Amino acid sequence: MSGSAWRDRILKPDTAVEQMKQKAALRALEEVRGGMKLGLGTGSTARYFVDGLGAQVAEGLEVVCVPTSEATRQQAEGLGIPLAPLDELQRLDLTVDGADELDDALRLIKGGGGALLREKIVAAASDKMIVIADDSKKVACLGAFDLPVEVNMFSYGATAAAIADALAATGNQGAINLRPLESGGDAPFITDGGHYIYDCALGVIQDGEGLAQALLNVPGVVEHGLFLGYATAAVLAGANGLEEVGSL
Ligand code: A5P
Repeated sequence: MSGSAWRDRILKPDTAVEQMKQKAALRALEEVRGGMKLGLGTGSTARYFVDGLGAQVAEGLEVVCVPTSEATRQQAEGLGIPLAPLDELQRLDLTVDGADELDDALRLIKGGGGALLREKIVAAASDKMIVIADDSKKVACLGAFDLPVEVNMFSYGATAAAIADALAATGNQGAINLRPLESGGDAPFITDGGHYIYDCALGVIQDGEGLAQALLNVPGVVEHGLFLGYATAAVLAGANGLEEVGSL
């Protein structure tokens, strides 16, 4: 958007890491044009994008957006950003979202915040997806971050056993942990869709495409956090500035 009055509406974060995340978010915001249909990601980095977008909307930018979580919905509503159901918009021009890990080929692990299902539905409906992150998220090989797998609550223990089989069949192994609501607590985390999440500690993911398909073949698995072929670009912020991967 031309002019910079909107910048007065956003707060500068305190720490260097948060400032880096905001820089990546504001670079992605430069790709937004009036009239666009946007997917709004979830997480601490996407939050800066939504903040900036809200500031531009307050200055007259016209967009319509689909949030990927109830948390993002609340934030966007609070900023007066126009929202619409994806069912109504059908296709989106651009989604901007964070990631837990990404590699050189723009393959992602997402779902650390528990929003992977809606994030993937929205990403799949988008012509472009820009990932925004600090550069600590870039890895040579996916898997150091535990892979989230969202499952139906029904017989979730049996689903965990079938997930272990899917891991083994694709050359992967590691602990499968039901995500707690709070670290060390007994109550499980429940997603916006009313499901549980297993976090799979794989270390290094072997055969990502095969694993993605094997997990989806497990009855009870609703979605997994491997995003292969969704991101079209990334903006990574580091101590030396911004790195752009792919074509924004
Ligand atoms: C939400 O479910 C996740 O996919 C987030 O996009 C991811 O965890 C990145 O979050 P941060 O920007 O907070 O690191």
